[in-house]
Amino acid sequence: MPQPLRIAVMPGDGIGPEVVTEAVHCLETLREKHQLPVEWTRFPWPSHAWHEQYGEVMPGDALEQLRDYHAILLGALGDPGPMDDPDRYLLPDSVSLAPLLDMRKGFDQWVCERPARLLPGARQYLADDRARDIDMLVIRENSEGEYVGQGGRLRQGTEHEVATQMEVFTRRGTERIIRYGFEQARLRAEARRRDGHKREFPTRSGKRCESQVCVVTKRNALRYWGDMYTEVFEEVAADYPDVATHHELIDAACMKFVQSPWAFDVVVASNLQGDILTDLAAVLSGGMGVAPSCNLNPDNPDLPSMFEPTHGSAPDIAGQGIADPTAMLFTTARMLEWLGRREPVLSTAGRELFDAVAADLAENGGTRRDTREIGDSVLGRLR
Ligand code: IPM
Ligand code: MN
Repeated sequence: MPQPLRIAVMPGDGIGPEVVTEAVHCLETLREKHQLPVEWTRFPWPSHAWHEQYGEVMPGDALEQLRDYHAILLGALGDPGPMDDPDRYLLPDSVSLAPLLDMRKGFDQWVCERPARLLPGARQYLADDRARDIDMLVIRENSEGEYVGQGGRLRQGTEHEVATQMEVFTRRGTERIIRYGFEQARLRAEARRRDGHKREFPTRSGKRCESQVCVVTKRNALRYWGDMYTEVFEEVAADYPDVATHHELIDAACMKFVQSPWAFDVVVASNLQGDILTDLAAVLSGGMGVAPSCNLNPDNPDLPSMFEPTHGSAPDIAGQGIADPTAMLFTTARMLEWLGRREPVLSTAGRELFDAVAADLAENGGTRRDTREIGDSVLGRLR
């Protein structure tokens, strides 16, 4: 058997540990069934509990420790405990959630992939029945833009206070995320061709393409990076004449995500705009309980990518065993598929997990079940 691939499992806070438990059960079952070359280590950090004990959310050398892993599977971060607990351990979001951004930056996980596909059994929030055809992949730039964390507060607390928050967009960062979008568009078209589900997207010249990339900006107001995104988009698009191109302003994109989300295929957006758009996209595909996400470094396989659902720690329902683990399980499936780049058998296991979760959703999606019930039902299908 080849050297096992190593996964750092981080349950985190809130509902994180509950949904991660179900993910680990699935990993155990799949490992046994297919002799998967994987092993995992559970980390008690990053977490509120770790902060309460040691005064920091994760150890100072956390990134060094994680560097040796091939993937990070993370539940959720940030949870002060129940509102009515007088001893709830409050931390500012900027402290409890910082590890997320540290890992994305530290391991250059420059792609955040958030697929939004309304699968059978998932809740359909839109009344229009064309919503059944929602199947898009939102790609969020994950390494720069509005999230660089540069700036500061001058004369803090005085009436002359000045707060600056810098946005930084590089041509290299722009080029790589847009190119990634086009590559994904091609792969999606290929997959649809294989499954016999061709889609068609019109181009301005009257052609019809099998896939599309829509780039989102706010170039009518934020013109410097907006113009650079537009130029780079056109340059990269020239290499993909088979892919239809489209641009939306972020505000109009929000409107069209609700009005006609089935018209989108691949959507590329900046860090913050992608963040906002993907909460909306998650609802279009059935809600946070089913929305997977991942943070990828596609060009350095030696650095770990991070797999964490779009949802947060949901403190309002944490500890009750009622959180939906579906998003976590889809995210775990994506992790296995990703690791399949190194060990193809993991891809197969990832697809199997995806199919089992999707089949469970199709059969039982409408019924109220607790975390364990959903996990057990998926396990039953894997065995
Ligand atoms: C997400 C989250 C994070 C983000 C927060 C928790 C910092 O909203 O992963 O979408 O904004 O990236
Ligand atoms: Mn978000």
